[in-house]
Parts: sequence; structure tokens; C-alpha cells
Amino acid sequence: MIGSGGREHAIVDALTRSVSVSEIVCTPGNPGVAALARCIAGSQEPQALADLAVREAVDLVIVGPEGPLAAGVTDVISARGIPVFGPSRAAARLEGDKTWSKAFMVRHGVPTARFRSFGALGPALAYVSVQPLPLVVKDAGLRAGKGVSICTNMDQAWVALRSIFAESGASAVIEEFMPGQEVSVLAFADGTRAVQMLAAQDHKTIFEHDQGPMTGGMGVVCPYPLSGADQQLIQQSILDPVMRGMAAEATPFAGVLYAGLMLTPQGPQVVEFNARFGDPEAQALLPLLTGDLAQIALSCASGTLDPAQVTFAGGASAVVVLAAPGYPGHPETGHPLTLPETGPDVRIYQAGTAMQGDQLVSAGGRVLAVQASAETLPLALGKVYGLLPEIGFEGAQFRRDIGARIGLHPEPA
Ligand code: GLY
Repeated sequence: MIGSGGREHAIVDALTRSVSVSEIVCTPGNPGVAALARCIAGSQEPQALADLAVREAVDLVIVGPEGPLAAGVTDVISARGIPVFGPSRAAARLEGDKTWSKAFMVRHGVPTARFRSFGALGPALAYVSVQPLPLVVKDAGLRAGKGVSICTNMDQAWVALRSIFAESGASAVIEEFMPGQEVSVLAFADGTRAVQMLAAQDHKTIFEHDQGPMTGGMGVVCPYPLSGADQQLIQQSILDPVMRGMAAEATPFAGVLYAGLMLTPQGPQVVEFNARFGDPEAQALLPLLTGDLAQIALSCASGTLDPAQVTFAGGASAVVVLAAPGYPGHPETGHPLTLPETGPDVRIYQAGTAMQGDQLVSAGGRVLAVQASAETLPLALGKVYGLLPEIGFEGAQFRRDIGARIGLHPEPA
């Protein structure tokens, strides 16, 4: 397992339930993962990761974050004869290069917002000045979910563009704003076939009522109540054309295909693709997965995925993220954390944490993801919010309105 966040903690947790798994090694991991797997610190460069995989004689590598995928870790490790769950460097462009990704969608008729791409600040400023508001300004590169600004006035658009072009070699995508419910539909993909997981809804801004700057994600409800018709439409108009298009362009996609969608009156439209599990979507989805994650991952890596492998429990799952004071700008670190014992169906996934001597402390922006499963979403939310007062983390930021966008409110168990 490659990675160190809450997503990786949830993946490792799911692997402990895979009967086919005898040992899990994670690099670099985190203190939460260390309770479940052998963690090995070290370089996260593709060659170093490949050396580690060979040295440890692993049967399968699962890549959590987008960085190593964009750096080509799958290509390098696969070349050493070890199966990897994660797309090749070329296929990971679906996430890593938003300009390329939008052009790909246009080439293959995948519904998405109208857009223009810019490689320089001047023309981008001139373009936004004559566009209707609101509009969406995106950094075309990888920014951990924080490179997107929804601009309701021109000043915001200019600030967003100036911040993107402050980096040399940057480019920006400017899109029309799509109103509607935002849904994350993740699918296991094996190069030709994409099999949907349960739909989920993330909450991306730091403050309640969808206010404030974008984060990597502050909370998730799962399953999002998608109609059967929408599920079918997403398969036929989005996932299948992507799989066909990627194969036709000689970059077949294997791994997790994450479609960030807006449910608009014109039907589901793509906001963005990611080439990996979402974070914190994984923390909500994986506790409900009843299929064997290691076998599914191996099948994806070998092009033999059977939809019957992808099974989920009934019921619902909710996640609320506890973030550091100052996140997403300048998170404070080093706050002592105390975690309570959790009952069945409740998990505390660790992300930005570290050990200082014997003390667990905060060490990043998003620090903990608290997950609960229950028969219904209001009950799952009730379990999560009921546990939060027992967690010692001074100054933690969290949203009290996870689920409210679809009319849900926590219900005490
Ligand atoms: N939760 C959004 C993401 O993983 O990109």
C-alpha cells in the first residue's frame, strides 16, 4: 500500500477484511495504519517504491494518492512484474492534467461544462472579464482538491487566476458554473470495464452551507440516493465512453475511476475525473464493501474484473473530517490528540497524525475522519456526531451540516 492519509488507512482497514491477504506493508503509512500493517518510511519516488515492492516480494501494490500515479509509479512497478492497482502515468492524466482531461471529454462526447484553457495570465484575465458569473476557475495541475475556486464576482476570479499563474509553467481551466447536487461516483476499472461503487456526496468547502475555500473534502454521506435511471445514464454516457476512449487512445484505464459529477437539469455532467479513491469518499465507502478488496484490485490490475465481485452491504455510512485550525490555508500542527475506544460500526481513520514520543499529535491539514455505519444515513450521522465530543483535539474544525444538503439531519441511535 502506498500512501499516508485517511484514505490509505481506510484501504488498509478494508484489506484486513480480505480473506486473501496474509500481510500488508504500507509506505510511508501513519500511526493509524501502523496498528494494522507494517509501515516502512522511505522515498516515494517510483524507482524507490519499485525497489521496495521487489524487496518485500509483494503480490500486489495498491496506490492511494494521485502524486505517485502522475509520477508513473504504476508503469515502473509493473515493469518489474508486480501487479499494480492504479492507472498508468498516461491514464492518470485524466486527473493530473485538467486541460487534457477536458479535451478528452470533448473528443469522446462525455458531458461536461463548457470551458476554455489558458497557459498565460493575460488572456485568462481578459476572458473572465466578459464572462457571466458565477464561473469556475481551476488550476490545471494537481492541487489536492484545493485548486478550484467558484467565483461569484470578478475580484475572486482575478485573485484565483493570479494565484494559479504565480507558479511558472501553470495553466488554468475556466468553466461555466453548473448548479445542482454534486455526487462522487467511483468505479472499479480494469482497462475495459468500469463497475460502479455506491454513490457518495462529499462536502468540499471548509465552512458550513458550502461557504469558504475549497478543501480536499470535509465529510461524506453514502449512499447518495441516485435513481436507477441516473445510475444507468452515468454508466452509458460517462463511464463507458471514458473506458472506450482511453482504450482507443492506447491508454486503457485500470484502478479507481472517480467521476465528480453535477446532477443538472440536463442530466449528469462531469465536474472532474480523479484517478484514485476519493478522500474522504474511501473512508465512507470501504466500510460498506463486502467484496474482497484485494481480489477486486488484483482483477482490475489483470483486466479480469467481474461485476459480481463488487458487492456492498445494505445500510449507510457517514464521515465527518476533523481538520486542523488554520486549514486549508496554514494548518497548525502539534496539537495533542486523544481518541476514544470505538464501538462496532464506528471507525476513526487517521490522516495528518504523527507520534511525538508516546503522544499522538496532529501533523497535517485534515487530521481525522470519523466514520460510522448504520441502517440509515441519519442514524450513521447521529453516531458520528455523537462521538465527536469524546475526541480530544483542541481547536479542531469540522462541519456540523454533513448530509444537510440532501435534507438529512443526525438522528441519535
Ligand atoms: N474528496 C475529493 C477528492 O478526493 O478529490
